Amino acid sequence: MRGESKGIKDLLPALKNKRYFNYGGQGPLPSTSLKAIIRSWETIQDLGPFTNTTWPYIASEITLTKNLLSQACGVPSHRIALTENVTIGCILPLLGLPFEEGERLLISDCEHPGVICACKELAVRNKLIIDILPVKQLRQGVDKSNEVAEEVLYLLEKHLNYKTKLVVLSHLLWNTGQIMPISLVAKTISNYKSKPFLLVDAAQSFGQIPINEAAFNADIYAFTGHKWAFGPEGLGGVAVSERVLIESRPTLIGWKSLINEGSGSHTISLPFFKDSRRFEIATSCVPLLAGLRCSLELLRKEGSEIERLINIQRSSLKLWNGLNSLKDVITILEGSPPAGLISFSLSQDNHPRTIVKALGRKGIWIRNLEDPNCLRACVHITTHEDEIKALIEGIKVISEKSGY
Ligand SMILES: Cc1ncc(COP(=O)(O)O)c(C=O)c1O
Repeated sequence: MRGESKGIKDLLPALKNKRYFNYGGQGPLPSTSLKAIIRSWETIQDLGPFTNTTWPYIASEITLTKNLLSQACGVPSHRIALTENVTIGCILPLLGLPFEEGERLLISDCEHPGVICACKELAVRNKLIIDILPVKQLRQGVDKSNEVAEEVLYLLEKHLNYKTKLVVLSHLLWNTGQIMPISLVAKTISNYKSKPFLLVDAAQSFGQIPINEAAFNADIYAFTGHKWAFGPEGLGGVAVSERVLIESRPTLIGWKSLINEGSGSHTISLPFFKDSRRFEIATSCVPLLAGLRCSLELLRKEGSEIERLINIQRSSLKLWNGLNSLKDVITILEGSPPAGLISFSLSQDNHPRTIVKALGRKGIWIRNLEDPNCLRACVHITTHEDEIKALIEGIKVISEKSGY
């Protein structure tokens, strides 16, 4: 409801002049987070930028942020690496895992192109075989979450092979909007004889749904601040398991991965940090840390993770019901949405790109997806009922008149 989310909504300049449904692409940045970034930038200039007085400030910014992210993920902070985005969080640890020729990667059919292509390249270089876990067909919605979970486990058992060394599955599927039972998947594969690693793309879950258990149980749980957490673009993180820390090699290597940045690195055989810093590379944008922390604090003030998700579900159900009340609209999810992603298509005249443009001309912003070929609208705790009505009306006009 508007009352509950008034705080953050009023701090989002991006939402003042449009009806916004692209949180899954990028969330708006609160003005207070932007100010926190600028303040941090000013502090760095005031103290340094490259002086002995700057380093304690930077170290404290990193510690504060990692502590906050470690709480969010329910893992100790030595398991959190800061990254620029989700993709880097997935790819850097992935490329360091130990694979042998002939081993197999089981990848869901709902993964993001960057992760899919990284797995394909990894497979070419290491002579691995890729298998597909077909979860795109699971569209039952939140009321049938148990059935969805059972089905995922069934599919998993069916597609795991004694040589499967990695399973890749997003927590919240970016195309269908269905939530995956990550902890159950982790449990199932940990009992499996080939002991596959579990890589979870958390692009759509971080800031939107409770993630603690999943992040704790996955081997690689990669997220970003710039989508559902209202953070700045350019800052994300990854939670890695103790097993990944022990068994993986560093991949993209830079001074930040090294225990001793000075000449000591020449003399020791294993110069890399044993903790998640082995996946951090070099200079990054420190002021963004203050911005993300500010956004996470604003989110926290909007209620617990569960309260926020219930709020999102309330809005997404309104949108889903509204879309389903239109004759020509087919929602991808067959039941109430588990979270805030709602994909749909128009049965008569489905040209998603054209529809996106037509709605954009009315100040309503959604996006199109290519697989499945459809439209996607996201609702967040900041979504107002009037925005939902405007989107439904916009789609209605388009579907009735082919009026774009
Ligand atoms: C599921 C998923 N994974 C990965 C990405 C890529 O995110 P990033 O640019 O933060 O790497 C996206 C972006 O939309 C996404 O939806």
